[in-house]
Amino acid sequence: MIHQEALDAYILSHIDEEGALLAELDRDAHVNLLRPRMISGHLQGRILKMICRMLRPRRILEIGTFTGYATLCMAEGLQGDALIHSIEINDEMEDFIMKYLSRSPYRDKIKLHIGDAMQIIPALNEMFDLVFIDADKRLYSDYYDLVFPYVHKGGVILADNILWDGKVLDEPHPSDKQTIAILDFNEKIKQDAGIEKVILPLRDGLMVMWKK
Ligand SMILES: C[S@@+](CC[C@H](N)C(=O)[O-])C[C@H]1O[C@@H](n2cnc3c(N)ncnc32)[C@H](O)[C@@H]1O
Repeated sequence: MIHQEALDAYILSHIDEEGALLAELDRDAHVNLLRPRMISGHLQGRILKMICRMLRPRRILEIGTFTGYATLCMAEGLQGDALIHSIEINDEMEDFIMKYLSRSPYRDKIKLHIGDAMQIIPALNEMFDLVFIDADKRLYSDYYDLVFPYVHKGGVILADNILWDGKVLDEPHPSDKQTIAILDFNEKIKQDAGIEKVILPLRDGLMVMWKK
């Protein structure tokens, strides 16, 4: 019998540390913010950094900054003049985000936008090598459709939480708009011949898509 908690602890003790700044951010979020579980966290954060190391993207887009945890992780993996545009709709998060961004050595690799991603993305005037979709679950298909023309061929789109706590296995209640939207998104991606796709069973499920 596998003890998942023990295995998770073993994994975290055998990978790179998240570092003092991110550990402080994580503690601060758990003490002071609602829904701190939205943070990518130690394991997913190191994976995002590693993906950046491997892909060497020049332009990255994050939809849904929240605390900036994942943003700072991806920034660590960038090279040269690479830049992350990260968009957060909740202006109450700006002070929290800036508290940590301003202390990071990767600060100049991050451009924070406060506002609705649906309005901001077309105005960025950028083509992306890597996109991380991690905002309102009800809008995953809309974010995807909006961002797709701005992704280079050979670019990668990641979408977080696509297993939605396992709720994708059950018939959703008609009022559960988030689960319904995630199910629709997963089905849409399955049918999309313009991409190669795979689900990493990491945490709450990470869809990895490669644009043909
Ligand atoms: C799951 S959290 C992001 C977590 C972060 N990416 C991480 O990994 O640490 C989702 C965030 O998306 C934001 N959000 C929701 N709808 C949005 C939109 N239309 N545009 C930008 N941000 C949005 C929410 O306010 C919330 O802070």
